[in-house]
Amino acid sequence: MVESNPSQSDILLCQIDEVAEMQAIEMDIGHNKLFAIRQDNRMHAYWNHCPHLGIPLNWMPEKFLDLDGSLIQCSSHGALFQIDSGECIAGPCVGDHLKPVELRVDGTKVYVVADQPMPQAPVNLRAQALADLEDS
Ligand code: FES
Repeated sequence: MVESNPSQSDILLCQIDEVAEMQAIEMDIGHNKLFAIRQDNRMHAYWNHCPHLGIPLNWMPEKFLDLDGSLIQCSSHGALFQIDSGECIAGPCVGDHLKPVELRVDGTKVYVVADQPMPQAPVNLRAQALADLEDS
């Protein structure tokens, strides 16, 4: 999270006080989905792709945390990630990291930096399964 003036093409994510501590928000940029969690008055944002299979982490809108509310949890196979670093500390992708989204902060406004590399399109397991059925 960088403290600086936004460029004209940066995308407003939120006002920090619109998001409660340890709550998440989501945003779509084209086909890419991201989420951000407020922790200790800072926003931590990641592309919504689990490093295990490349699919979205959550099933329920804006629900990314484990039962304790202290770690990000993938809803598919339970991988757990640190909120501040995105590092996976338990589950099938231990040691991997969520891909961070670069943010820019201007006062209380938090922006997604526009000129950053976008991730590959997320894996669509349903579409893959349907294509496999058609091929067989
Ligand atoms: S897809 Fe996230 S842990 Fe398997």
